[in-house]
Amino acid sequence: MKRIGILTSGGDAPGMNAAIRAVTRKAIYEGMEVYGINYGFAGLVAGDIRRLDVADVGDKIQRGGTFLYSARYPEFATVEGQLKGIEQLKKFGIEGLVVIGGDGSYHGAMALTRHGFPAVGIPGTIDNDIPGTDYTIGFDTAINTVLDALDRIRDTATSHVRTFVIEVMGRGAGDIALWAGVAGGADDIIIPEHDFDMEDVAKRIQAGRDRGKKHCLIVLAEGVMGGNEFAEKLAKYGDFHTRVSILGHIVRGGSPSARDRVLASKFGGYAVDLLKENKGGLCIGIENEQIVARDIIDTLENNKHKPDLSLYQLNRELSV
Ligand code: F6P
Repeated sequence: MKRIGILTSGGDAPGMNAAIRAVTRKAIYEGMEVYGINYGFAGLVAGDIRRLDVADVGDKIQRGGTFLYSARYPEFATVEGQLKGIEQLKKFGIEGLVVIGGDGSYHGAMALTRHGFPAVGIPGTIDNDIPGTDYTIGFDTAINTVLDALDRIRDTATSHVRTFVIEVMGRGAGDIALWAGVAGGADDIIIPEHDFDMEDVAKRIQAGRDRGKKHCLIVLAEGVMGGNEFAEKLAKYGDFHTRVSILGHIVRGGSPSARDRVLASKFGGYAVDLLKENKGGLCIGIENEQIVARDIIDTLENNKHKPDLSLYQLNRELSV
């Protein structure tokens, strides 16, 4: 194909700009034209579409967020919305689409595929919760942002002999809490994919105190419950001088790490390779350090993302 479109959808993630740049530059290198669609599927349906040139993606690789903007657009779940989107794509002569985003965005790409329009998904979300890939764009930057926060919070926790509950993003997945927790030497990590017992959490805090430990950091994935609710429940088992820190959207912003930029560049280049050969209905991922493309319908319908739970056990062993 000769003319492709690109959009970012759902929650933004650091490295999305690097992926847009890679798609644009690689496509132009291959003699193709690229059209950027603003505001994800909402902009697609509205026809908010413009040609992207080499210079449009200059000075973008280091920027967080997405310069094509993003939106959550549940209307694209309707056949009416999907057909309107395809109508716009045809109006602009766009023959294939790259969709960068998370689970909801992949469902949009899957719907286009079902209507016979070639779409390729690139996993972009800080949550790392997409099937068909070991890592998503934005995850590495996000865990480093959380790690920086944990190191800072540890300073004040130690000074005041306090327990901190640090709530991090991850609506349905504990990957951010797990990875940042292990890297930050967390005393406990609470994630949706593993049961926990509040009495046990309290006992572990007390055991640490009895040994003279000054700080206690509990990293909590928001998908389990909110930080304040957690602290209230913990207080029933003792007074641990608890404070709550909710990192929220701070974790979604910022300049992408080198790893995220390289991953985004590889994914973007590969998406163009596929569309150039008229291959759609695929989602790109990295598995065991290899870039792969899988059938998007099969991946979404028959696979589920699983976090590396060996990290959970390891952390329990290391944080005695
Ligand atoms: O999907 C990524 C994510 O950052 C989740 O971790 C979080 O729960 C959600 O987006 C927040 O969404 P919004 O920015 O729309 O409130």
